[in-house]
Order: sequence, then structure tokens, then C-alpha cells
Amino acid sequence: MTRIDKILARELNVSRRDARQFIKQGRIMINGVMVKSVDEKCEDNAEIYVDGKIISNNKFVYIMLNKPKGVISASDGKGETTVVDLVPDDMKRRGLFPAGRLDKDTTGFVLLTDDGTLAHNILSPSHHIDKTYIASLDKPFDDELVEDFRGGMTLNTEELLEADIEGLNEERTLAKVVLRQGLYHQVKRMFKKHGITVVELKRIKMGSLELDENLARGECRYITEDELKLLFE
Ligand code: URA
Repeated sequence: MTRIDKILARELNVSRRDARQFIKQGRIMINGVMVKSVDEKCEDNAEIYVDGKIISNNKFVYIMLNKPKGVISASDGKGETTVVDLVPDDMKRRGLFPAGRLDKDTTGFVLLTDDGTLAHNILSPSHHIDKTYIASLDKPFDDELVEDFRGGMTLNTEELLEADIEGLNEERTLAKVVLRQGLYHQVKRMFKKHGITVVELKRIKMGSLELDENLARGECRYITEDELKLLFE
């Protein structure tokens, strides 16, 4: 059982005082019953409504965002728009941050959470979560590049984990790339080693969890518990 004012403060990103004000104004319901006391407690799986609209009652939130170009993968953009800025206010939480970065000009799947342990597991090299990208290239790749990707290439003396690459068009200027690590500018640098420039890059999958194709660029939605498991498959 948790105090309702504490849950409201956490879920709505407001102060406890504001949360208690909402209760006094009769705006809060638990399982269909209006909350009368600011001291009321609530079961962990209860349905909580604010002004008739259900809110999540989870300790942590997990959000899938379809990142557009020009947005920074950070919680503080120092004046520039960040992925956290794109999350609507009613989904925002204190401590929300992206678990893994995409370059400013890369689009696609960014996972945002306030769960530090999960973020650590996603980012930890020992978990090797596959990340799948679609790369559009300025010239075709050849078999030598494929071998280098699949064999675990050396980049500036660093030996990379094996990656996979598959052509998505006959000219081999559009490729699906699967990485098992997330080094700085990794996809772009791997192609650059072979004289190829990545013109467009989009992340479409993390683990076995695919970016929801119904999300327009800049849109986000919660990730369900079942979907979360797919991250580690
Ligand atoms: N590799 C890159 O080069 N850029 C990204 O944003 C992600 C992977």
C-alpha cells in the first residue's frame, strides 16, 4: 500500500502539496471511488483516475519513442530539443532519461525510462542487446565489407563484436545492420572504414522489440511488461 498523494506526485510530476490539493478538489478516484482523504492509501495494482482519465501506477515507466532528426538523446540539451522534451507532460517523470543514445541526425527507436537498473542492463556490454538499424548509403557495399562486419572488425585498434549486415535492395545501398554493442558513431564508423558514408540511419529494433510502426516521428507510447521482456531476448 502506498499513500495516494505520493503516487500522484510521482505519476503527475507535481509536488505532494499539489497532489493533496487535487484530492481536496475531488478530482481523484481509485477503482471508481472518489478519494475523500489526503491520507488514503492505495494498492499497487489499483486503477487511479485524475479528472476521469486513468493514469499509470507503476514504480517505473518505460517509453518507446520514434526519434526524429535534430533531437538530442539526452535529458538536458542545453537549449536544444531533447528526446525527453518530446514526451507529453502527462507521461513525464522526474529522472526520465534515454537508455542509450542515437546521434542527432539518427531517427528511430529510443527507450526512455526512470528505471536505472534496467537502463544499466540495456547499456551493459555483458548483456549484448542486439540493436538493429537501417542504413542508407552513398555507394554500394561489397562482400569484403560483409566479411569484415561478420568477422568482428578492428576499428582504431579496437576489436568489435561480430555484427551482421544484409542488403535490402539490389544495388546494396540500403542495408540492415545488427550490432551487439553501442559505441560512439559505431555504424557510421564501420562503413567509413570501407569508404562508405551513411546518408540516413534509423534504429528499428532493440533486442526482439521492434519500433511500433504506428508511432509517427516524435511520438511515443508506454512499453508493456511483455514487450520489456523482448528487449532481453
Ligand atoms: N551508430 C551510429 O553511427 N549512430 C547512431 O546514432 C547509432 C549507431
